[in-house]
Amino acid sequence: MDYRQTEIVLSARDVVIKFTLRGKTLTAIRGVSLDLYKGESLAIVGESGSGKSVFTKSFMGMLDANGWVDSGEILYEGKNIARYKTEKEWLEIRGKEIAMVFQDPMTSLNPLKTVGLQIRETVELHRKTANAALTVSALKASETKAIALEILRDVGITEPERRYNQYPHELSGGMRQRVVIAVAVACRPNVLICDEPTTALDVTIQAQILALLRRLQEKYRLTIVYITHDLGVVANVADRIAVMYAGDVVECGACDEIFYDPQHPYTWALLSSLPQLGVKGEPLFAIRGAPPSLYKEIRGDAFAPRNPYALLIDFEERPPWFEVSPTHKARTWLLDPRAPRVTPPPLIARIRERRERREAADDAR
Ligand SMILES: Nc1ncnc2c1ncn2[C@@H]1O[C@H](COP(=O)(O)OP(=O)(O)OP(=O)(O)O)[C@@H](O)[C@H]1O
Ligand SMILES: [Mg+2]
Repeated sequence: MDYRQTEIVLSARDVVIKFTLRGKTLTAIRGVSLDLYKGESLAIVGESGSGKSVFTKSFMGMLDANGWVDSGEILYEGKNIARYKTEKEWLEIRGKEIAMVFQDPMTSLNPLKTVGLQIRETVELHRKTANAALTVSALKASETKAIALEILRDVGITEPERRYNQYPHELSGGMRQRVVIAVAVACRPNVLICDEPTTALDVTIQAQILALLRRLQEKYRLTIVYITHDLGVVANVADRIAVMYAGDVVECGACDEIFYDPQHPYTWALLSSLPQLGVKGEPLFAIRGAPPSLYKEIRGDAFAPRNPYALLIDFEERPPWFEVSPTHKARTWLLDPRAPRVTPPPLIARIRERRERREAADDAR
């Protein structure tokens, strides 16, 4: 995919998000710029508290009441939605243009309503009819039911007629997550944000849900944002990866570039802690130290205190973006031409070696 040729659906520019808590202000997102391209799968990865959920919730006006976009723009179809204030404005975007799937299906479904009713309500609320003159209320009950059943089939729910009349608690976890996805796609959004969509599910179901999302992406031409701590999960689903640390995107590139040519020491650390890379008998790599307090102003590279490769300047000045390729950039002073050459940790070299070995084996076949 050549991104320079591709339409941008959403563009976040220098977004700063703050919260007040017990009379103090914290900065959760520190000037993030990120573009979403039509039809792509972008994964946002980073440790707990790095700002993945807060950042993406701001695309839908879903920040908690004590939070706000302090500066920057979020452009969606030419409109700066970061300025939206009223629920009425957000209702034009939320669900209809940008929809979200959360980790825990039980919290996103209404336990008191049948599966069918929840999908129908979304269809009725948001459905953009092919004929603009046709108002949503013109859809008859029988039509919305037919649409709901079709969506249930689309998300791989067996016996949709029976499921239609069931309540969420009557379904398994995997089925419930499929229903959540059905509700999310019911109004044909452009962008689907999946926040840890498979974390609560076991591995087999996880794979099924990811496969389902990929299928729906093609069918509905969705742009998907996957949020996860688990880089292992995104390897198979993401076109691009954005790595977040302490409220900032520190590296962004095509999936292969992040896995096989990572540049930021935080990305190295994140990759090194992948269980799949562990060596039997050796303890798993763990990033030492803790992320910085978001209540204080962060000087330099936020990762510097935990970074064994940190340069003096990392403690002084925030690194700018350095371009690695037209699709790959990283915010690390190590990419400055004046920086000393450092060799990434051995585990990073191992990922590349594994791939080369695999490719050689494929070639030999
Ligand atoms: N309502 C709130 N009030 C105060 N601080 C908040 C609020 N919501 C989020 N934060 C803070 O913003 C930061 C980013 O949180 P966020 O939930 O986006 O992290 P995350 O990357 O999604 O983490 P996880 O992987 O655990 O879901 C955290 O430090 C969090 O404590
Ligand atoms: Mg989160």
